[in-house]
Amino acid sequence: MKKITLLQTVVHLGGWFPLAQIVYDYFTRNLTANPIQAIEQRTGIHALTFLLFSLACTPLSSILGWHELTRRRKALGNYGFMYAAIHLSIFVGLDYGFNLNAILRDVGTKAYIILGLIAFLLLLPLAVTSFRYWMKRLGQNWKRLHRLVYIISPLVVVHFLLSVKGDLLRLQGNISRPMLYGFIALILLALRIAPVKLTLLGLRQQLQDRFGQIVNKN
Ligand code: HEM
Repeated sequence: MKKITLLQTVVHLGGWFPLAQIVYDYFTRNLTANPIQAIEQRTGIHALTFLLFSLACTPLSSILGWHELTRRRKALGNYGFMYAAIHLSIFVGLDYGFNLNAILRDVGTKAYIILGLIAFLLLLPLAVTSFRYWMKRLGQNWKRLHRLVYIISPLVVVHFLLSVKGDLLRLQGNISRPMLYGFIALILLALRIAPVKLTLLGLRQQLQDRFGQIVNKN
């Protein structure tokens, strides 16, 4: 039997905990005066957070040398998709009461909804092909397809920025949180650029050599 690691446990408990908390807060009436909006906002944030966690696995694994991280990337991405699907279902079912006419009318007028929709449509093939069967079947194309996450995360950050009340150009309003998420996404994407990656790996090697020398001297 395969051994369950601590990281694996943390990832799965961390994946379900926010949902359990939303359900708990719903039944204990702790979801603000506008529970639908609160669930929409929370599921949106959790979806983006898990997407960024999954994006962080590869660079952190090479910088820290913690290779188990790459094996947890898929589960983190799937939790991201799960929260995005709940987010969309709440929007369609609770916010708009499945009124497709009203949704179509608003989709055309609100840019952030169009961006959210594009992000979700791009997430769908990633979620569907996340199984081992598709990984084997698609081979190199699987990797290419999953690079879509590099487009999805900035799209979601802009969706977030446009959904809050604020003015990006005047740096006014509630833009600090989407800006923080955008900054993290930017760093995670920059870590994939070859020269940045090589510089960090070089630094890691230098630190390892220094610490190795100190340990050997003592
Ligand atoms: C068709 C697809 C989508 C629709 C219709 C949609 C709808 C919405 C709406 C209505 C809000 C504003 C909630 C409010 O403040 O009243 C929102 C916010 C947000 N959405 Fe989406 N969304 C979609 C896709 C996504 C996806 C795919 C993600 C992430 C992977 C996402 C992440 C977020 C985030 C982070 C927020 C901001 C939450 C906050 O203000 O704290 N959305 N979305």
